[in-house]
Amino acid sequence: MQQLNLNGLRLGVSSAATQIEGGDVDHSWAEWARRGHIRDGASPARANDHYRRFPEDASLMQSLGIRHYRLGVEWARIEPEPGRFDEAAIEHYRAELSDLRARGIEPLVTLHHFTNPMWFERMGAFERAENLPHFLRFAEHVVRAFGDLAAEYITINEPNVYAANGYFFGLWPPGVSSLRRTLRVMSVLTAAHLSCYGMIHRVRAELRLTGTKVAFANHLRVFAPEREASPLHRAFASIADRFFQGSLSVAMTTGRVAFPLRRIARLPAGRYCDFHAVNYYTRSTVSGLADGVRAGAPVNDLGWEIYPAGIVQCAARMHALCPLPIYITENGVCDNQDAYRCRYIYEHLKALLESGLPVERYYHWCFTDNFEWAEGESARFGLVHVDYDTQARTVKRSGRFFAAMIAAGGVDAALYDAYVKPCTYPTNGGGR
Ligand code: FCB
Repeated sequence: MQQLNLNGLRLGVSSAATQIEGGDVDHSWAEWARRGHIRDGASPARANDHYRRFPEDASLMQSLGIRHYRLGVEWARIEPEPGRFDEAAIEHYRAELSDLRARGIEPLVTLHHFTNPMWFERMGAFERAENLPHFLRFAEHVVRAFGDLAAEYITINEPNVYAANGYFFGLWPPGVSSLRRTLRVMSVLTAAHLSCYGMIHRVRAELRLTGTKVAFANHLRVFAPEREASPLHRAFASIADRFFQGSLSVAMTTGRVAFPLRRIARLPAGRYCDFHAVNYYTRSTVSGLADGVRAGAPVNDLGWEIYPAGIVQCAARMHALCPLPIYITENGVCDNQDAYRCRYIYEHLKALLESGLPVERYYHWCFTDNFEWAEGESARFGLVHVDYDTQARTVKRSGRFFAAMIAAGGVDAALYDAYVKPCTYPTNGGGR
């Protein structure tokens, strides 16, 4: 059956400060771009000019019926020097949060989404446990200042992606390639999240604010052996899983820190998330140390496999670890022509809705096309098209589909035929 009933699942959209705001800010990604590491030469200084255009973007969101928005704050704007807070930046975000609320859009605020102020980067960022108080001081300042404007927080976005891309593959700042240092960063980030979780609850309780919900955004993928029958492939898949996401998921959710991570903070085992925040995009096919993509598999424009069943496998695994409500805090597709995004959304939602898991929210990545890290402006994930030269926003077909689903509470046969049926995925011709 093609119809889909959302059954109360709330649909929203997701973003990150560095990817949309624009402006000349002294942070690790501005520096990385200056050093020529962005594929198309783009810079986060341009992005979507959202810092100035936030009311326009919020108004567009509202016009599509979107009521949930995950947004980030830029640490380097808020704390341009260690211990010096820029109250104008805080006021800016307070104005943005008030504007969203006035439009009936509920914010979920990410405190750290890949980007560090350069002063923090230069002191070794999350490689050094001694630096943790800086992050916690920033986080506390923000949480106090936002007060009742934001009750729900993501402490850290995708600690595994931040650590792996920056310290193992060397593709992101600071461009290091060392397994030892990658694991160190993951361990320190675990301590950062565990401490931040406690701090947010403590501070908000002290301020007598209710409705507090905190989690870290967990990037999960499926690691599948290329040949199920091969013990070697199975072993590599399970090692990749443990090192990239398995240990980290357990440590950050329960405080139980095990190999290959190391305990940094002396915090008791317990529960360190109020919901599971799952970011899901793809499956990796493993036959050795590097991961690949199954031959003939449907793929997106970046060559990532499109594998809707995986979103359920990843969410189910977190639910088995600890039964909590599930928010999909990112799921989306690089589809530069918007040729198959509707099908991608439909199939992932369908898998979730049929899973029986307590999935309460689904935040699509992302609202507008934006600065996609090392891919720059060349990879489009948005429901809304951005012309970077003019900053004109145009709602895509997939954006209209998303709005229609929200309005109808699901997908009926007519919506399916109009938006989903015509879409076909590209397939992985070469590769493994
Ligand atoms: C996730 C990131 C997000 C965006 C998407 C495509 O890993 O959290 O910022 O880049 O991938």
